Amino acid sequence: MTATAHGKIILLGEHAVVYGADALAASLSPGADCVARVSAEGTVLTVAPWGSSFRPGDGTELGRAVGQLCEAMGSGDAALSLTLHLPGGGGVGSSAAMGVACARALAALQGRSLGDAELLGYALGWERVFHGNPSGVDHTLAALGGVGLFSRSEGFRRVPTRGALRLCVGDSGERSSTKEMVDGVARLRERRPEAVDRTVEAIGVVARNGALALQAGDAGGLGELMNLNQNLLASLLVSTERLEDLCASARSSGALGAKLTGAGGGGCVIALAPGREPEVLRGWTALGVEGRVVEVGR
Ligand code: PMV
Repeated sequence: MTATAHGKIILLGEHAVVYGADALAASLSPGADCVARVSAEGTVLTVAPWGSSFRPGDGTELGRAVGQLCEAMGSGDAALSLTLHLPGGGGVGSSAAMGVACARALAALQGRSLGDAELLGYALGWERVFHGNPSGVDHTLAALGGVGLFSRSEGFRRVPTRGALRLCVGDSGERSSTKEMVDGVARLRERRPEAVDRTVEAIGVVARNGALALQAGDAGGLGELMNLNQNLLASLLVSTERLEDLCASARSSGALGAKLTGAGGGGCVIALAPGREPEVLRGWTALGVEGRVVEVGR
């Protein structure tokens, strides 16, 4: 049986969510698929399309994550064949999608299916290997899908939307480590606690207002909030010149709003541009980025 998991797009609220603020996020599908078989040669995770294999004790984070997951789930040695449909390290929740798909595949091998709480527990353990102190937004969306507000204290609250939400997604090609970006914000907070705490608070308000705009079908309002969020993220020093260029290009091509998504320092940008998606993608192509249009939260 093939187990699946979603990727995710943070519409508003990354980084602030680490400090307890709300984030507005939507699932991105397909994320990852995984099939598990009993293995006679020890536990191994193979990841397509990379063509790489990972084993517990091989010194890689993925090896460690899969070893820890098998132990937590009490599974015997397993061969996990995973297909990732997302760019790794691109801010769209690839590691969480892998963790959720692997946990579901191992459960299927054990002849059971996991309840939400148990699945989220295993996925959190997986995410900790990569991110140290994950807010939980990635693996929650990977497991549950849909669109909603997420906070550490209140978990996931679905937001009803009017029709499909279409976004342009462009991968800057720059890569960063989520852990390093989160650590960078923590260091900034040590130096300037008041400024960072106010920014975190403001981002939380932006995310909650974004949920209202989304619910009301107010694309213009949502776009403005995305632009505001991008400025607040830049003040946390997680944007880059290339991400700023891609956002500026999207806006000048008619996007109502554009911002980085995920940890920043590279990775993907998103743009909300109803009816102007081809123009946004053409603008990005001129900057050397192949974007695509996705429907999120399905
Ligand atoms: O870069 P990603 O896809 O792992 O997203 C990280 C989102 C952060 O808010 C920066 C971290 C977190 O744990 O929520």
